Formats: sequence, structure tokens, C-alpha cells
Amino acid sequence: MTGRKSESIPRYRMVLTDDGSLTLYSSEFDEAMHSSSGAYDEAVRKHIIPSGILGHQKEEVRVLDVGFGLGYNCLALLQEMARLEWPMFTKIISLERDSSALPHLKEIRFHDSRDALYRTVLHALEFGAYVDERYSLTITKGDARESIQALPRAHFDAIFQDAFSPAKNPELWSVDYFREMARIITPSGILTTYSCARHVRKAMLEAGFSVGKGPAVGAKREGTIASLSEVIAMLTEQETTQLLASPGIIFFRDPDLRDSREHILIRREDEMARVKQGHQVHG
Ligand SMILES: C[S@@+](CC[C@H](N)C(=O)[O-])C[C@H]1O[C@@H](n2cnc3c(N)ncnc32)[C@H](O)[C@@H]1O
Repeated sequence: MTGRKSESIPRYRMVLTDDGSLTLYSSEFDEAMHSSSGAYDEAVRKHIIPSGILGHQKEEVRVLDVGFGLGYNCLALLQEMARLEWPMFTKIISLERDSSALPHLKEIRFHDSRDALYRTVLHALEFGAYVDERYSLTITKGDARESIQALPRAHFDAIFQDAFSPAKNPELWSVDYFREMARIITPSGILTTYSCARHVRKAMLEAGFSVGKGPAVGAKREGTIASLSEVIAMLTEQETTQLLASPGIIFFRDPDLRDSREHILIRREDEMARVKQGHQVHG
């Protein structure tokens, strides 16, 4: 009986957000893919603009999008490039483990010029890739932790880090994962994310990134931007030192990039308990 009941829970349901765009609520992660203040708006303001990707003066820019979801980050990037009349060839690689949301996504309409672009984005989700003379979009299916290991060093001008929240999706927020991000981003590339969790920022610092504050959008707190070079709105030296020196701020570890979510969460809890115990013994 119970088994049959849980099988009938749909994996995704559509939710309307305040800017009129739809997002998906995932029953597996018990979380929506975007903030209720505006799904599409979040893509533009948390990722596309702070990544600085629109201002590049190159023939080709390369972007890694972690967590395709509804494909809004891809769409928003293409829409902004279209607005600028395609100043450069835009190459996007998007990583996603679950493409079963496709039937929901096919129902989405923007009723403006985004609809034509979105059709190409969904073509990529369905068939693996879309390419024309202005952009290419490749969707690599599978666990992002495995996919990133096959990506070349110093390759991406921007990385949109857009997994579910760290508590729900810890495998995409570990220090070991960010070390891979540091390997594949260019020296001046920018990683953007909505999270401002201290343990996430500490993991980024530990992985070799400089870390700064990203914009706050809607009801959500500020995000984070990170780069191997200096970034705008850098954390102060004091803030950085505090993060690195605080034993109580403990990031996720996933040394082989293949541990289960539960294992990663428990490993962190154990480390937290050990640190607390150490304090009590020494205090
Ligand atoms: C917050 S949603 C992404 C929203 C998306 N960027 C957009 O613009 O619509 C997070 C996505 O990450 C995917 N995801 C979670 N864990 C993953 C993993 N280990 N590997 C690949 N994708 C993963 C989920 O399936 C989900 O689609």
C-alpha cells in the first residue's frame, strides 16, 4: 500500500513565481528550483549579469551551467546575447542528471521572443545538443560530479553554480567539487551562485577561489561570486581570515566525488561533533 502511494507522488509540479515565470517543485529534493520572487529574473540577476559574460571581448565565450533544471540560465544567457545582437559565439555546456521534467517544460510559454530560443534549449535537452552559427548548447546527462572530471582545464569563462540548496544537494557543494571547478575555470572566469552559506564560501576559498558578495535578488539574501582572480565586492581580508580560521565552519567533503548525499551529510555532522567535543575538552 505505502509503496503504491509513494509511487503516485509526481516528481515535479509547476509553481508560478512573482515575475510571472514558472518554476518546478521537486518532490525528491522537497524544494523549488527557483525563488518564489521570480524564476527567470533570478537567472538574469544572479547569474548572467554578475558573471560578466556579456562584457567579454572575445570571438567565443564558454559557459558551464551546473543543474539545467528548467534551462532558464541557458535561456536567459541566450536572450541577453540576442539583445546584444550576438557579439560572440556562445558555447554552453549544461549538466543535468534528470531530464524527466521535459514534458512539463514543453508546456512553458513566455509569449515573447524567448519562446523561439526556449524551443532550441529544449531541443538540446531532448536530443543532447543544439548548434547553429550563433551558439551551441550541449546537455551532458548524468551526475555532474562525474561529468566535470572529463572537462578540460582552464576552459570556462563563467560557471553558473545552480544546484539545489547545500542541505538538500550537498554533493554539488563540497570542497572537492569546488576544486574541480577551480581546475576548469579560466584564470579570470567567474563562478556565480545564489548561496551565501559560510561553509560554501569557506569551501570555495579552500579550493583556491577569491570570494565576493553577489547581488541579493527578491526575498533571497546576497549570493556569492568567486574567481581565481580578484572579484568585485570581495570579502574583506578580515572576513576571509575569519572564515578560514573558524573551526566551527565546516564544509562538505566528498574526496572521490561519488559519495551518497547521506554519507556527505553524516561526514560533516561527525566532523562538527568532533570539533565541538574538542572545544569542550580544551575550554
Ligand atoms: C535549482 S535546479 C537548477 C535550475 C536551473 N539552473 C534553471 O535555470 O532552471 C537544480 C538542478 O540540479 C540538478 N541536479 C541535482 N543534483 C545533481 C547532480 N548530482 N548532477 C547533475 N545534476 C544535478 C537537479 O536535477 C535540478 O534540475
